[in-house]
Amino acid sequence: MIDPVLRGALALTLALGGCTWDAPMSTVKAHSDYAREILHIYGIITWVTLAIALIVGLGLAWVLTRFHARPGATTMPVQTRGHTLLEMAWTVGPALVLLGIAIPTIQVVFRTQAAPPRDALEITVRGHQWWWEFQYPSLQVVTANELHVPAGRPVALTLEGPDVIHSFWVPQLGGKRDVVPGRLNRLTFTAETPGEYRGQCAEFCGVSHANMGMRVIVDTPEAFTRWVAAQKAQSPEPAAGAAADGKTIFASRACVGCHTIRGVSAGTLGPDLTTFGSRRTMAAGILPTTVDNVAAWIKDPAAIKPDAKMPALGLTDEQARAVATYLIGLR
Ligand code: CUA
Repeated sequence: MIDPVLRGALALTLALGGCTWDAPMSTVKAHSDYAREILHIYGIITWVTLAIALIVGLGLAWVLTRFHARPGATTMPVQTRGHTLLEMAWTVGPALVLLGIAIPTIQVVFRTQAAPPRDALEITVRGHQWWWEFQYPSLQVVTANELHVPAGRPVALTLEGPDVIHSFWVPQLGGKRDVVPGRLNRLTFTAETPGEYRGQCAEFCGVSHANMGMRVIVDTPEAFTRWVAAQKAQSPEPAAGAAADGKTIFASRACVGCHTIRGVSAGTLGPDLTTFGSRRTMAAGILPTTVDNVAAWIKDPAAIKPDAKMPALGLTDEQARAVATYLIGLR
């Protein structure tokens, strides 16, 4: 039987360790060239610090066993004051360790901050309280909270924001990069493996900071081309029923002041909803896109995302469901 104290300590260690190896926000699974560079540095630092821990631990154990007070000893051991060799060793040693970490780190900083290659896909990332806007200027596509990028092609992100400082962070694709109002930061990476990668705003930006998630969907080049074509296509007009009623309600209410739906409205304060129904998640990645969730959001956004900038519009349950049905039909 394991001692209860030891068992408690083990449980605490596991709880503090917290994350599984390949959790969605794991930084030790690299799926882009940039993430691989960071992982390389992380590896160097881990092995160097492990070696230091081992050397210090063994040295300490040797000193403790070799020099502890013997039973019956009456005299003080020899006292040493100032030992030139030791002093030099513990000054030069750490300097060498820091140099050993700094050189590869600086190399990676320069490699990852280089100007993006010419064939890179330019994307503007705008951090808002509390959602992400993604603009593809060369493709005339705008979307929100779900960034699609093609595997194997460099993407050059320009990060900017209209309100407060946010931080773009998709751990498996690269490091954090702040989104600072009035300043253009850049981040370039080439995603390697098609799949869905979770991200999160990593700079405290207000009440719903924790609700400012995102997804990066890495597509095969063919799937990306299809996605772009679908984003640019005009959604079919809702025939009749709830979706048509929803469109009428949307077009006659304050919705149009904040949201763009191509051909219907041109607001820019909230996410562009032209292809809302094609997104897997809503409200900056916190809920799956379903009629129930969208209707609940329209009824009372702040109940789902505290302090959300979108007001409750005072719609009835039926009206909210109609608008939700219309929005989900937009793809
Ligand atoms: Cu945006 Cu935290």
